[in-house]
Amino acid sequence: MRIMTPKRVAGGGAVAGNPVAGVDRAHIGNGLLRATGRHTFGDRLIDILVRRVYLPSMDGFLSGRSTARQEGPPVDFLFACGQDPRLPDEVFDRLLWGGLFVYADRDGNRVRRIAQDYDNKRGFILETPATYTRIGRLGIRLPGFSTCVYYFAARKVGLIQPGQVTERFTYKVELMPEPSAEHGYIVCKEVPTYADVEYRLRTRCPEASDKDIQARTRKLVDNVFPTFLTREAAILKILANELPEPYCHHVPKALGVQKDDNGFVRRLAMSWLRTGGPRLTQIEFARQSAQLLSVLHNSAGVMHLDLRLDNFVLTPRGVGFVDFGSAARIGEDLAQSPMLTSLFGEMMKTSKIQRMLGAMLEKGQVTNQSFTCIHQKADPAIDTFYLALQINKPAHNPQFAHLVDYDPDSVQAQAVSSLTAAVLRPKDQAEAAFQTADDVLRGIERIRRRLMDDQSECAK
Ligand SMILES: Nc1ncnc2c1ncn2[C@@H]1O[C@H](COP(=O)(O)OP(=O)(O)OP(=O)(O)O)[C@@H](O)[C@H]1O
Ligand SMILES: [Mg+2]
Repeated sequence: MRIMTPKRVAGGGAVAGNPVAGVDRAHIGNGLLRATGRHTFGDRLIDILVRRVYLPSMDGFLSGRSTARQEGPPVDFLFACGQDPRLPDEVFDRLLWGGLFVYADRDGNRVRRIAQDYDNKRGFILETPATYTRIGRLGIRLPGFSTCVYYFAARKVGLIQPGQVTERFTYKVELMPEPSAEHGYIVCKEVPTYADVEYRLRTRCPEASDKDIQARTRKLVDNVFPTFLTREAAILKILANELPEPYCHHVPKALGVQKDDNGFVRRLAMSWLRTGGPRLTQIEFARQSAQLLSVLHNSAGVMHLDLRLDNFVLTPRGVGFVDFGSAARIGEDLAQSPMLTSLFGEMMKTSKIQRMLGAMLEKGQVTNQSFTCIHQKADPAIDTFYLALQINKPAHNPQFAHLVDYDPDSVQAQAVSSLTAAVLRPKDQAEAAFQTADDVLRGIERIRRRLMDDQSECAK
């Protein structure tokens, strides 16, 4: 069994270290106890629950303890007992999406009361309603010879909490229990409601008139979002058919759709690419990202067009891409439909990636002719351009902070940074050869080989 050893970090949180074979179970439990070294009864409860109930499913995932300081990286398993922070709003940000919150106490009524706050509320669902296990005395777990430990477990299924507004996400994306699915959950991506979109627009544009907000809300909810979601479902089907075997597990698989009367998809169910697994070096992160992009372009003939780090996932299988809502087939004639022409036209002007390219072109930070000619165009080179930037700053996705080793002063980071510079601003004929994801991949492979050679030189 491979176990991620939780290590102490400031504030009593835990992070996954290198997978270590054969680490004993007590060690795992101890990783969740308080840093004081003096273990309370509550600590013992958590330790017992971990060993008895959760340990098999914790393999390879991050775990931590809810503490008053609430520091440390977001984790997959968060344990609390007694007076630890235990309310949904207190623990939401301490958990990764799909993470499990487990609360234990000797007082069954308190556990039942707190569990109610997680029952389909505040971005959680109650996965294990209040229940108990017995701690035996003298090895006997019978009533009279034992104490009951009450506990419940709640799953974080929302990306944000109800009422929160974010710049990061547009759709309503939630996890739904599905016993037959890997990890027991699937992802449901849904067109948001009028109320949600209106609230978001009002928050973002407080100066806009009511009439304007309502018209924009209707356009988004009735046309724009369903069109892109319909396209996303179609692209996922193409990917399932066209991507070679190992790679089809690095993008979501469409599992079902719900359509409206006009045939537009309003709800898309897909497989969950769950965050987790061993840490990657920056160069390995870059290599896998470029490799996946190369297969996406060359085998599936699909361009993503919104390859922001938010739309990358890191799973036990490695790097994956999600959110194919803006994607298109390479060579697709988007001008065939006036609606698509207008939607893609707008997207090519307003997308973050296009705006970034525009700004960098203006400042002379991009001179590679493969990219200078694609500003405001739907072209696969836009993915290559953005990939070259993203591999340089993996830490910009907060979820990757503990999954990718990134040190800007390291030899690795500096080598990747030089590669990015060469891709964007070639200094000579050789550097001008960087045009496609394949070219970037070759550049990354060269760095990797060089670093390995340097390492073996040092070892001599
Ligand atoms: N199948 C999936 N597996 C794992 N994570 C997913 C999956 N689908 C979505 N996510 C997570 O949910 C987030 C939001 O989903 P998605 O990007 O599809 O919608 P969105 O961000 O609302 O769309 P847009 O980027 O167009 O605003 C993603 O950034 C990713 O973290
Ligand atoms: Mg997205």
